[in-house]
Formats: sequence, structure tokens, C-alpha cells
Amino acid sequence: TKELRQMRTDCLVIGSGVAGLMAAWNAAHAGLSVVIAVKDTLLDSNTNKAQGGIAVALGADDSLDLHLADTLVAGAGLCDEETVKIVVKEGRKEVKELMNLGAVFDYDENGICLGREGCHCRNRVIHAKGDATGAEVVRALLAAVKALPNIKLLEHHFVVDLLVEDNICEGALILHKHKDLEVIRANSVILASGGLGQLYCHTTNPDGATGSGVAIAYRAGAEVMDMEFVQFHPTSLAAPNIPNFLISEAVRGAGGVLRNAKGERFMPRYHELADLAPRDVVARAIFNEMQADESDYVYLDVSGIENIDRHFPTITATCLDYGINVMKDFIPVAPAAHYMMGGVKVDRWGESSIERLYCSGEVSCTGLHGANRLASNSLLEGLAYGKRIIDRILAKGNVEIKHSEWEYNELRKAAELTDIQAKLQELKQVMTNYIGLIRCQDGLMQAEAFFNAKREFWFNRETADIEQIEYLNMLMTSALICSAANMRTESRGGHYRSDYPERLGLWRKHIIQRK
Ligand code: SIN
Repeated sequence: TKELRQMRTDCLVIGSGVAGLMAAWNAAHAGLSVVIAVKDTLLDSNTNKAQGGIAVALGADDSLDLHLADTLVAGAGLCDEETVKIVVKEGRKEVKELMNLGAVFDYDENGICLGREGCHCRNRVIHAKGDATGAEVVRALLAAVKALPNIKLLEHHFVVDLLVEDNICEGALILHKHKDLEVIRANSVILASGGLGQLYCHTTNPDGATGSGVAIAYRAGAEVMDMEFVQFHPTSLAAPNIPNFLISEAVRGAGGVLRNAKGERFMPRYHELADLAPRDVVARAIFNEMQADESDYVYLDVSGIENIDRHFPTITATCLDYGINVMKDFIPVAPAAHYMMGGVKVDRWGESSIERLYCSGEVSCTGLHGANRLASNSLLEGLAYGKRIIDRILAKGNVEIKHSEWEYNELRKAAELTDIQAKLQELKQVMTNYIGLIRCQDGLMQAEAFFNAKREFWFNRETADIEQIEYLNMLMTSALICSAANMRTESRGGHYRSDYPERLGLWRKHIIQRK
């Protein structure tokens, strides 16, 4: 066994998106010592890329009740109503706190600008610099966090495992970029490791969104819930040799309309809300049109949006980088994996089924999103739980917990796990073909056979290679999505089965998985 380096802190926060930074700031502000550990850099998060903004009931014609009602409809019967009430209310308070911390949102002569996105009955999405909202949130929170002396920031610190004894989380085993192992002992761990778009061939998410947080929590014994519900964003920039890039739903909210390869508007044929129908409906309609026209994309016609370059400067500039001038061209778009509704099951205080393991943001399943997330509710959730979790930790008392003596076998590269890049491609192809936007039993059975053939690797952790561990995590998280998608023999929200296209009352329940 290997003697491990040790570090001790009150709160270990894993992740630096809005959920992680907000929790870290609240903890440190309350006097707790905090370590933030991230596997890449502090700027590698979905939050940092978020465009549309933060949904918050601030308009004179809006209310918490209307925001609640829209969220419940989008969630297709699976939201926890009490959680939704908490998030829309407390999230609004934390948005104001975020402004106090220095985040600057867009204003015009009427006050704060409120954009529109799909399924919102009011304009309620605040944004910054047009379409660079997430970057502003991260900028403000990072500045606040860096100003506090009791927060330590550790980049390139990859979490191998959570350390759990007698169902109490005591910290995490960390692998540095340079292959040193270290134990970070903590009185509370806040897992805020983000999403999993990288399990699919096409995603709006950054490279680090591999779903490894779900895998490490599940491996440690935590319950995970709603894993079959993956949201595909309808409009990711799509043309040969163009990297994945989101075209915000706010563009359709501002008047953009979808057209098929023949130039025809098609969304009014699919839903009364046309281009602002629920995301799953729009994404499947696009897929249908692409198949009918044998095309790899449809078009977003933005000719009806005045001053598009002023409202959406990031989108305008990025499109131009790839030869698309949004002032006169249609934008080629296609659906891409965007957001995971499911994740580690937590209670209304963000605590998982493992004591002292809290989860926040996309890795968690709080019950806010149900089967389908309402656009721009996720940053709000990260803000609300980033405060709530710390309130809970403080209320429980930051007791110094007794820590087990952790030893670890020296880790090696696993000889049987070679050609990881090829293995990852194979995994993403299985996920995209069989557990993507449209699922059916035949495909799910093939996917299950694929995962079963690799079952021997699921809990194999005798490896000290970050690339290998990341692959094993992705395999495990994907297998959890597969088994839940196989079980749910109906269609609801982000889970669509062509062999069971109806929503069924008997399935108004959650699928919970545990090791
Ligand atoms: C968008 O800007 O379209 C994304 C907003 C979201 O997914 O919440």
C-alpha cells in the first residue's frame, strides 16, 4: 500500500460552475475552510458557456406561481412541486445576491432586460452581454471566491473516488495531473461536477462534461435517479467541419424560425407553440425533417431579428468565424445532447443518500426538472442550492468528523484498457444510435449487450491513468442511462420511445438505481 499525502478542509467542493462556486462562496463567507478541486481549469464548465441566461420571475407581469406552473408543465409530471417552489423563490433571492457580488446583467430604458425562451409564458430570462451570461456569472463568482482567504483553488485535480465509510462521506481521493495521489479529507463534500453531453457524438457541452460525477457517486453507493431523461438542444450549429456550438433558444425567442432543407417553415405543423414548443418536440421535429430531406441539418432563419449582432454578439462572431454571416445567411442547426435532468438523488437540502455528500447543479437530481428542464432554470438551481446546502451544513454544525485511515494500492495503468480514444468513439456511437433522441427496444437491447460485455470493467479501478478512469466513468454513467431507458416503457419529456410513443399514467414515477 502507498502512503498518501493528506489535506484537510471543512468543505471540499468538486467543480467550478455556478453550483460549485456559489456553494464555495457561501461556505467560505460563513467562515468555513473550503477547497475547490477541478479536473481541468476553473473556466472549464457548462456554466461558463451558458448563453440564454437565468430564468427568474422579475417582470411586472410575472410571478413565482407562473414560473412554478411553467416548470411543472415542462417537467411532464415528474417535478417535485415543493422543490420547484423552493428554487423559483430562493433562486430569485440568490440572483439578487449574485448582483450584489458584482454580476452585471443587461438593462435597457425599461429596466432589466427579460428574454423569452421555449415554454415560458412570460419574458423572464435575464442575460449578460447579450448571449454571454454564463461567462459573466463565472467571472463575478470567481472574483468573489478569490477574494476570500479561506478558499483554496486546485486546478488539474481529478477525483478518482469519494471516500465513504459507514455511509458517511469523508472526502475524496485525488489524482494530480502529474500522477500523484492525495487524500482530501473533508467534513462535507459538495459534488458539483456538471453534466454529461460528452457521452454523445454531438453535444453543446465542453470536453470535461463526461458525467464522471454520477459514476463516482454511484460507485460510492449513492442513489441515482431519472437517468433516462437527457435533454437534446434543438439548435446546435451544424455544418461539416464546424465544432459544436450552441445557438441559444433565445434566438427563437427573439423571432428566429426554423426552416427545412427546402426552405419551408415546419414547426407550426408539429406544435401550437411552433418554434417555441418544448425542446424535445422541436428536437424530434428537426430530426424528422432532416430524415425526410436526407439532410444533416435544418436552417434557423434569423432575418426577422433586428440588430441580431447587438443582441447575440457571441453567436454572431462565432458564426462569422465559420463563414456564416447571420446578418444575411440562414444558420445550419441540428439537435445535440445538452442537459442531464437525472443524476445523484438528493433531498430538498441537497444531501444525497450518503451522509455528508451533497450534490448541486447538473450532477444532482433535485426534482426541479422532472422529465424535461425548462430553459434557463439550471443556473437558478445552482444558485439556490449553492446557498441551501451551506445553510444545511451550518445548521447541522460543522463537526469535525472522525476520519478512517485510508490506504490505497498503488495504481497502475490497466494493460487491458488500450486505445481509449477508439473505445470512447465506440461508446459515443452506441449512445447516439440507441439511447439518443429516439429510443426503441431493439436499439436499447443492443446497447445493453454492449454494456454487459464490458461489465468486468465497471468497477475496475486498478488504474492510475486519468484517461482510463474517465473512460470507465463514462461507461458506467452510460450504462445507468441505458438501463433506465430500457425500463421506462413510455415516452415522457426527454425520454422518447418510438415503440411506446404515449405518456402513461402508471409511469408517473421515478427510476432509482443503486449499486
Ligand atoms: C439556450 O441558451 O438556449 C440554453 C439555455 C438553457 O439550456 O437553459
